[in-house]
Amino acid sequence: MSNYHIKNLEEYFQVYRKSVRNPENFWEEIAEEHFLWRKRWDNVLSWNFSKPEVKWFEGAKLNITENCIDRHLTTRGDKTAILFEPNNPDEEAQAISYKELHKRVNKFANVLKSKGIKKGDRVCIYLPMIPELAISLLACARIGAIHSVVFAGFSSTALATRINDSECKMVITSDGSFRGSKTIDLKSIVDEALVDCPTISDVLVVKRINSEVLMKEGRDVWIEPLLAAASDECNAEVMDAEDPLFILYTSGSTGKPKGMLHTTAGYMVYTAYTFKNVFQYKENDVYWCTADIGWITGHSYIVYGPLANGATTVMFEGVPSYPDYGRFWQIVEKHKINQFYTAPTAIRALAKEGLAHVEPHNLSSLKILGTVGEPINEEAWHWYDDNIGKRKSPIVDTWWQTETGGIMITPIPFSTPTKPTYATLPFPGIQPVLMDTEGEVVKGNQVEGKLCIQFPWPSMARTIWGNHERYKDTYFSAFENKYFTGDGALRDEVGYYRITGRVDDVIIVSGHNLGTAPIEDAINEHPAVAESAIVGFPHDIKGNALYGYVILKDTGESRNHDNLRKEINQIITEQVGPIAKLDKIQFTQGLPKTRSGKIMRRILRKIASKDISNLGDTSTLLNPEVVQGIIDEAM
Ligand code: WT7
Repeated sequence: MSNYHIKNLEEYFQVYRKSVRNPENFWEEIAEEHFLWRKRWDNVLSWNFSKPEVKWFEGAKLNITENCIDRHLTTRGDKTAILFEPNNPDEEAQAISYKELHKRVNKFANVLKSKGIKKGDRVCIYLPMIPELAISLLACARIGAIHSVVFAGFSSTALATRINDSECKMVITSDGSFRGSKTIDLKSIVDEALVDCPTISDVLVVKRINSEVLMKEGRDVWIEPLLAAASDECNAEVMDAEDPLFILYTSGSTGKPKGMLHTTAGYMVYTAYTFKNVFQYKENDVYWCTADIGWITGHSYIVYGPLANGATTVMFEGVPSYPDYGRFWQIVEKHKINQFYTAPTAIRALAKEGLAHVEPHNLSSLKILGTVGEPINEEAWHWYDDNIGKRKSPIVDTWWQTETGGIMITPIPFSTPTKPTYATLPFPGIQPVLMDTEGEVVKGNQVEGKLCIQFPWPSMARTIWGNHERYKDTYFSAFENKYFTGDGALRDEVGYYRITGRVDDVIIVSGHNLGTAPIEDAINEHPAVAESAIVGFPHDIKGNALYGYVILKDTGESRNHDNLRKEINQIITEQVGPIAKLDKIQFTQGLPKTRSGKIMRRILRKIASKDISNLGDTSTLLNPEVVQGIIDEAM
């Protein structure tokens, strides 16, 4: 029996049991049989969650791009690796074969080298969803540079914070991006960011929208002529298993964004193995994940996981609503997509537009549907199942995180019976546990608790860039010897998991992970604002929307509240990005605080969702009297 490709439920249970009984042996077999190593490992795993320190395949040498590209050249050189579908449906799609990808990555890597980028240097990538985005990730990996992709919807301030935190030497960007009927001036966002980024010496600019941009002498260069002149041969840097591959920032409940550091071998093995099984990828399938490569979903399941399996992976530049709400289904039909992976928020938004956008399209190529990023509600699940999958394509509700690197809890299609709103069972190698408030493991089924993982898996983030203490505090301090996910979950009578949502101050809006702190910091920069607190409240399409409670400074003069609301959202857009804008802003006199000065968001959340019948224990509040005032203003 092959452990690599699970084909039925019985096999899943066998493989799972093996992965728990003898994890090292289990992962060693997978690593051995399915990847290209320059040198074998000396030790499969060493770990210590109290330090914390985790090492997989120590001593091994490899380059991930040889696994994602070179080794496919003889067997599938002419096969399409990346299928690029542009924003504008009238622009031709581009099929990039493995051979062509090899050349383009090598050329790009040579350009990076010519600019002095070396192994271990950090390169910030701020690009739209065009082929150069995937290629630049791979080019960094080819030479051992650490990529740090920043989602191109983030503002210049957010970009600068991330560049500075990891001291990037270079930014790769484009003149602009197409988004539906709009164009966005990416280069000027970069220019604004770089005013405060002393470590950046070079900016490579890809031409995409042909707009006039300012090119700073000695810093900025167009990449096209450099690529044209570069050699298409570039030896892959031989990397250690635990050498860093990339940094990707994610929001924390407090403080600045956390640069999660992923390393080479374990990440490769785990993303490849999960991709193969969760999407049951077969040689001629065309796979499409609609995420942006600016998020972990795109890193793991547009670029590395699919390419490591020699798959054809689609990259879509545009948005689901352009030129109309049928765009996704038009693309599914056009490219005969077999596996389609998206977010619940997209499903809800498309469902709202009605079946008239779905019905004209032939979706019969679809075999497997996936969702990721937030809990999927029952209604959206059924809409997806009925109208897109026509009740014949299993839905894989995949739970995971930036920190986990790969999918952790998920059905295996055609093996695990699905259940709406349940991510179902742990993937082989993953050992979830639920914890109660006393810090004890909750045993048995039909129980609820905080979701932790009690054993390492190959693709877990190894640290937070530059702040190992924070890594320890955030993930390994809540419960001894366990990785704490920040999510709550329940386990049903057969052992299926359902993720119920965050139990900390992270809010998931349209599948984007937003920390309260940076948004509150932005609001507080408004000169009229004294203090603020934001919470999530239920929203039909976004899952959660943001609700801000704002205390104004007492200046004696009265200000127009609607104007203030606009100004506050403007600052948030500038500092964090448009995704973090508040749907509701309530001006208030006070915020409920504990004696230690912590805002009691539990109460604010209840008021925001108009659920005030039971506010829970307010006895620990320093100022219980403010609560009634906030309720009165809100209702
Ligand atoms: C948080 C991680 C993993 C890539 C996208 C998000 C929530 C993610 C699910 C799911 C319920 C989910 C969790 C998690 N989440 N997938 N299938 N069901 N919740 O990555 O930005 O790091 O966010 O997203 O709350 O902790 P991320």
